[in-house]
Amino acid sequence: MQINKPYAESCDQNREPILEVIQSLLKKKKNVLEVGSGTGQHAVYFAEKMPHLVWQTSDQESYHQGIKLWLDEADLDNTPPPIALNVSTNTWPDNVYDAIFSANAVHIMAWENVVDFFANAPKQLATGGLFILYGPFN
Ligand SMILES: C[S@@+](CC[C@H](N)C(=O)[O-])C[C@H]1O[C@@H](n2cnc3c(N)ncnc32)[C@H](O)[C@@H]1O
Repeated sequence: MQINKPYAESCDQNREPILEVIQSLLKKKKNVLEVGSGTGQHAVYFAEKMPHLVWQTSDQESYHQGIKLWLDEADLDNTPPPIALNVSTNTWPDNVYDAIFSANAVHIMAWENVVDFFANAPKQLATGGLFILYGPFN
């Protein structure tokens, strides 16, 4: 079954202010794991603006088809295919990253997922790695 490219208006609204902050943070970094990539819109935008980075998308598998549509259309050199990652149930990638980025995911996860995310993220980070979260928080 063919699906249309998914679209989230919020990504268009928040991508610029997020970029303004993360661009300097990621200036000397090489690879980023994005958790909960959703549509894939942030990935193509940030990867295009920061071509020195490899931007690794991830999400639950049901999101992959949509993410791939965005990645395929953008056809960038620095966006490998998404990897399956539910922070609680999937095996985390056998890799370390200079940064983990996640937008608008933590506040919709169950609390036990958040706990697993915070427990696992440091194991995936290189020395000096950054854990970057965007979203609504109390
Ligand atoms: C509101 S969407 C945000 C998507 C995108 N990051 C954005 O800013 O538009 C929340 C995302 O969190 C992901 N998510 C929720 N629970 C998760 C979990 N346990 N592990 C990994 N991702 C999860 C969803 O699959 C979804 O892609």
